Amino acid sequence: MRRVAVCVSGRGSNLQALIDAEAAGTLLPARLALVLADRSRCLALDRARAAGLPTVVVRVRDFDTREEWDAAVLAALRAAEVELVVTAGFNRVLGPAVLAAFPGAILNTHPALLPSFPGGLHAVEDALAHGVRITGCTVHMVTDEVDDGPIVAQRAVEVREDDDADSLGTRIRVEEHRLLPEALRLLAAGRLRLEGRRVRALAPE
Ligand code: GRF
Repeated sequence: MRRVAVCVSGRGSNLQALIDAEAAGTLLPARLALVLADRSRCLALDRARAAGLPTVVVRVRDFDTREEWDAAVLAALRAAEVELVVTAGFNRVLGPAVLAAFPGAILNTHPALLPSFPGGLHAVEDALAHGVRITGCTVHMVTDEVDDGPIVAQRAVEVREDDDADSLGTRIRVEEHRLLPEALRLLAAGRLRLEGRRVRALAPE
């Protein structure tokens, strides 16, 4: 079993996908052990509590500096004895202390086909405004380059003539909800090998 923390800020539909995968037995050997939020109220926290998962709130505004916030996040992750971290709709950039403590062990889900349209809060709008016909979602490893870590997995989603950000974002999330648990399962199973900046998915033993 490899204990996982999920960092959230909002709706938590990707967290729910992980909770559902765990309930279905398809997340093993990953095991959800902590949900960390950067705010005291959000739907994601409600989902975590409903699933009986431990939660912790670490708000930036409760600390004088980013470094102290970073240290508090790291302390919460260590206290929960997690080995892997997922950021799923987490509206913060993890600090250097956390990145250093979890090399190659942090996954993020992003609602576009990186490296196109980075910036989690407006990626869907940006893709629409640019007029691309195909966008999608990306699960990548988190490094100190925001939205630029090694790509683990991607799924394409076609843009329809009548799409707005809501309709397109909803279809992208359907794909994220499949992709993220699968990527986490592979990472937990030790089946993702980093070669340069390419991630190779190894066949099962
Ligand atoms: C997802 O589309 C994720 O890629 C982006 O923000 C959205 C979060 O959705 N970073 P949710 O909170 O998991 O429902």
